[in-house]
Amino acid sequence: MGQVVYNGIKFDLFIPSESIQTRVRQIASAISDDYENKRPLIICVLNGAFAFASDMFMNLSIDAEITFTRLKSYVGTGSSGSVDELLELSDDIRDRHVVVVEDIIDTGRTIKKLIDSIKLKLPASVRVATLLYKPQVCTHDITPDYIGFTIPSKFIIGYGLDIDGLGRNLKDIWVAEEEN
Ligand code: IMP
Ligand code: MG
Repeated sequence: MGQVVYNGIKFDLFIPSESIQTRVRQIASAISDDYENKRPLIICVLNGAFAFASDMFMNLSIDAEITFTRLKSYVGTGSSGSVDELLELSDDIRDRHVVVVEDIIDTGRTIKKLIDSIKLKLPASVRVATLLYKPQVCTHDITPDYIGFTIPSKFIIGYGLDIDGLGRNLKDIWVAEEEN
């Protein structure tokens, strides 16, 4: 089945590219149904969500806009505990229908902070689409509106997700092997 190794950690194949693409098209279709004539503003959370946001956006069948913000909370394979805003959201989102697109929700800290700051700017509505969701870790009472895959609380890479910057260009999603 193959393995990849980054930073001395072995990763096994977890979600193949075909399954990712199928699910991404389903989410794009659901968002297209829900936002017809609303011209939603998709906010891609960089860096990790670029692949998902791009593929999802290209599969929307409605008029929509996309913009970007950049947050960082992870160092290596663990949450650093603080969330830094590295690229501020500069768009005027007042009265807009906003869909925040994340690669993964782990503790929920990143998305909670972003949603709180977005709400202060008085959008018409805010929803969250995440490719991956780790409900066992989520401590911030966050239930995403669109979820690609619900997964156990293991460290994963690929399709935008990284380990210290590497692994983002893997087409499949890979999971770190348990250490025994
Ligand atoms: P949270 O604030 O704990 O929910 O962390 C969310 C952010 O941490 C995501 O946007 C990812 O960038 C990163 N992250 C969380 N889990 C993983 C993982 O398993 N692999 C790679 N990055 C992760
Ligand atoms: Mg991220």
